[in-house]
Amino acid sequence: MAEDLRIITGSKDDQYHSLLPQISALLEGEQDEIANMANICAALKEQFNFFWVGFYLVKGDELVLGPFQGPVACTRIKKGKGVCGTSWAQEQTLIVPDVELFPGHIACSAASKSEIVIPIVRNERVIGVLDVDSAELNSFDETDAAYLAQIIGLIEFNLF
Ligand code: SME
Repeated sequence: MAEDLRIITGSKDDQYHSLLPQISALLEGEQDEIANMANICAALKEQFNFFWVGFYLVKGDELVLGPFQGPVACTRIKKGKGVCGTSWAQEQTLIVPDVELFPGHIACSAASKSEIVIPIVRNERVIGVLDVDSAELNSFDETDAAYLAQIIGLIEFNLF
């Protein structure tokens, strides 16, 4: 059963370091990936107050919006389109310091200024992405990339 998150101040590294075991505890014993993705979004949003944090899941040749926290967002993104579709096509994490400088960026909201997208790979296949948006420029770096990848690694995917 979930307890309240312990929200801390401090460096980005401190914050992820505190959050990671809490997310791990939240997911423990729960096999439902939708529930787990939903709680991951809530935990990241609560700790970091990101503008938008959510999952897109591969369905056919598109990404379809999954659990998220933040304003309403685009529902479908084609492979190779936007930051999310490019992360999927290239099978790599993309850190975008200024979304206006990313060719083909899909602006679900004009308030989003920087973004990080991490592909979720299972059995050598991308099955979705985690997308985090910030209302400020230059919010994301390798620390986010490393911790977010670890957080994604905690989810067991049975449906995909
Ligand atoms: N900006 C993303 C679209 C998703 S939203 O930011 C929630 C993109 O370019 O793929």
